[in-house]
Amino acid sequence: MPDQPVRDLTDPDWWRSAVVYQVYPRSFADGNGDGIGDLAGLLDRVPYLAALGVDAVWLSPFYPSALADGGYDVDDYRDVDPRIGTLDQFDRVVAALHAERIRVVVDIVPNHSGSGHVWFQAALAAAPGSVERARYVFRDGLGADGELPPADWQSHFGGPAWTRVPDGQWYLHLFAPEQPDFDWSNPEVREEFHDVLRFWSDRGVDGFRVDVAHGLAKDLSEPLASYPAISRDAVRSDGTDVLFDRDEVHEIFRGWRRVLNEYDPPRAAVAEAWAPEGRLALYARPDELGQTFEFDLVQEPWDADRFRVRILDALDFARRAGASTTWVLSNHDLVRHASRYGLPDDVDLGAWLMSDGAEPAEDREAGLRRARAAALLLLALPGSAYLYQGEELGLPEVADLPFSALEDPVHVRTGGRRKGRDGSRVPLPWTADGPSFGFGAGGAHLPQPGWFARYAAEDQAGDPHSTLSLYRGALALRASLPVDFTAEFPAGPSHVVEVVRPGWRSVTAFREPAALPEGEVLLSSAPIGPDRRLPADATAWLRDPA
Ligand code: NOJ
Ligand code: CA
Repeated sequence: MPDQPVRDLTDPDWWRSAVVYQVYPRSFADGNGDGIGDLAGLLDRVPYLAALGVDAVWLSPFYPSALADGGYDVDDYRDVDPRIGTLDQFDRVVAALHAERIRVVVDIVPNHSGSGHVWFQAALAAAPGSVERARYVFRDGLGADGELPPADWQSHFGGPAWTRVPDGQWYLHLFAPEQPDFDWSNPEVREEFHDVLRFWSDRGVDGFRVDVAHGLAKDLSEPLASYPAISRDAVRSDGTDVLFDRDEVHEIFRGWRRVLNEYDPPRAAVAEAWAPEGRLALYARPDELGQTFEFDLVQEPWDADRFRVRILDALDFARRAGASTTWVLSNHDLVRHASRYGLPDDVDLGAWLMSDGAEPAEDREAGLRRARAAALLLLALPGSAYLYQGEELGLPEVADLPFSALEDPVHVRTGGRRKGRDGSRVPLPWTADGPSFGFGAGGAHLPQPGWFARYAAEDQAGDPHSTLSLYRGALALRASLPVDFTAEFPAGPSHVVEVVRPGWRSVTAFREPAALPEGEVLLSSAPIGPDRRLPADATAWLRDPA
């Protein structure tokens, strides 16, 4: 294995080609055995992350929260949830990661706070029309007595996006009622978030992942426009949608960029934006956040043509926006890709989860094969790549969680019609046995299935053919190979995606085997057959012949 070049913590452009590992803190590692992952657990696992070879860690919310939405209901933007740790421990985690030259990205949730936030509590206590209410979106209702919501807007999690308070006004929440939306036309809200960015930047945080970045600017002009259903496909693509991806949102992020550039090196940021095709890259412009997750690819089945189209489009949109690309296959909101690629292409993932994963049956072997191939393809592309905890173990979705164990508000809010996202948030298996498979000394806040034993990190670490070893090898190689921001995609058989980088290339065979071009095979997701045949559902990296 080549030696890892030392990462330079002063490099201002580190994020452009970084491999960033997402930690969902409550499900990563539990240091005190209470069943909830925490900073002490994360501290213990810093050597694991260093051995994996990631450039940065993104921490999903660890802030004080009533956990109405897995921590994305933040009650205090400047503290750590006592169940997860303390600010002191946070500083220790940052120091330990920095000592390994691993950078730290934290989640920031600006569209809404938690309902326990002091501002929202003050708004509830204050009168209609007060400055306290003006930080959120309070409106009188419709109907003779204001008994109807101010508009027909629906919440992402099901049900109306408005909740009435005792004095008769209503407040907006595009997610759960415990997640009141801020009014971003209010300068006080803007100032507050600039200050929060500085708070964490001063603590040494290297970057921010921006939650619901496409949602901050809304058309709140009276009368409120009708918006009966939320669907990504229906969002207007000219920047004038009522709720999402409005042009004004970019002015907010230009303000953020000015704050982030007060630091040396400038702090990085990545947008979680669900925007119409071609508009995603706008969030990544150099005077804005710099990065935006490329979410078009995660909607695609395991198909060479679909992958090629999405990859080329994303590179093209990024180039036109003066940005680089940010790839992702899985996160805490998506069905894990090892499962997605083991299901028929046309499967409705929501319905599949509701059947406890029984219908249709998942082909675990194919799913894992393809997940490994997809990871190598992704890591061969120019730009940055985000990995989700557990994907380096090849972990599938836990589709058969009992309904009684679910934590995601989606389940309750949709009256049981949707199962929600808990299946990708089950605490990781670190060992093949022991309580909670080594997650902690006690149980796990979401039940782990028995088959988790087969994916234990400890066993995989000692197995050169494991998925963990594949990821380690790929990250070490990636760090040693020349990368720039160009790639070529030579035409070839339609089931093959070939990515040509400076002096090396990656070849992925989708669903059928392919003949490999010349060159030393550096790494492959499956054994190469006789006559240099790359088996179906596999990726190989090759050094170009001198
Ligand atoms: C996106 C987050 O990733 C998701 O988990 C959360 O529910 C919503 N934003 C609302 O904050
Ligand atoms: Ca704990």
